[in-house]
Amino acid sequence: MSKMYTSKIIGMGFHVPDQIINNNDLAELMETSDEWIQSRSGIKERRWATEDITTFDLALKASSNAISKAGIDHDEIDMIILGTLSSDYFFPGVSAQLQDKLGLKTVGAFDIKAACSAFIYSLSIADQFIKTGMAQTILVVGAETQTKLIDKTTKGRDIAVLFGDGAGAAIVQRSNDNSQILSTHLHCEGKDMRNLWMEAPGTSSGSWFKGQVFDSERFTPKMNGREVFRNAVKRFPEVINEALRYNDLSIDDIKLIIPHQANYRISEAVAKKMGVDMNIVYSNIHKYGNTTAASIPIALTEASEEGLIERGENIILAAFGAGYTWASAAIRW
Ligand code: UT7
Repeated sequence: MSKMYTSKIIGMGFHVPDQIINNNDLAELMETSDEWIQSRSGIKERRWATEDITTFDLALKASSNAISKAGIDHDEIDMIILGTLSSDYFFPGVSAQLQDKLGLKTVGAFDIKAACSAFIYSLSIADQFIKTGMAQTILVVGAETQTKLIDKTTKGRDIAVLFGDGAGAAIVQRSNDNSQILSTHLHCEGKDMRNLWMEAPGTSSGSWFKGQVFDSERFTPKMNGREVFRNAVKRFPEVINEALRYNDLSIDDIKLIIPHQANYRISEAVAKKMGVDMNIVYSNIHKYGNTTAASIPIALTEASEEGLIERGENIILAAFGAGYTWASAAIRW
């Protein structure tokens, strides 16, 4: 059998739009309150892209930041994997725009639609390509302008108050030292997909170019919040424990858990189930809300910039979201 390699993250970066929307701003648009939002979710403010800013714009800035942090030449990148559910166009993917604007060789580039789990799914794919020797340096991105999709009236308030826009990126490269992605575990259960979904546009809507299907109801995300919450609290600990078991690690070996930033109360419930203190569960949801595929790379960038993780320490990334999809990545930083 040919040699197997390992991969590691050599640089991270993120970018969020300038426009800050706090809870009181939302209360002017819909029936809600700062008290309700903070007590139910822990969110104080989030970023909204203005109409002229697209998912690609955020992805490009996050990627450029990651590339400069990694200190690599653009030419070294031999694949782009980008997680998003709010791409600029129905097709092709944002990854194609990135390949062009970053001025890369004609490297393989594709988008992953796995909602809040998309960054870990993408990281997992990158890890496999590097392990087999088929690629050496991969740009992995999570980017969203999901707030353009949401209903910002009282009718859509359960979703509108939670989500924000942003992008985060990682340069994943073949490792020649102790740092490595130890494992990734990916899951999906489609039976409850309607608990968190956006029905249209999609081919099930029929031929929308005839102009018959644009009822706005179906063109905005829908969520059964309580069911999503219940499943998240079950799946996060499950997939974190799967990572621990696989690597023969105990929770005491983990410096930081970086969960997808869905709701501070979900993170608290996960910490309680895992029997860990909240100070090892990273949170920046108060600043950004839930940025879907971007939330983990933004959180990981901030955690490392804040000096919370040092090379050689173990961390676990974990996500849960639409699909349902859920996933974890254990990393020796
Ligand atoms: O990335 C994964 C995606 N999403 C998630 O992980 C979200 C998971 N779910 C949640 O985080 C929570 O279920 C929510 C934050 C969405 C809701 O919190 P909750 O404690 O489950 O509230 P609820 O849905 O049971 O609603 C309680 C009340 C309802 O009023 P009634 O029926 O009790 O009169 C809602 O209509 O709160 C009302 N409500 C609001 N009130 C003010 C719902 N949204 C809002 C709002 N502002 N934004």
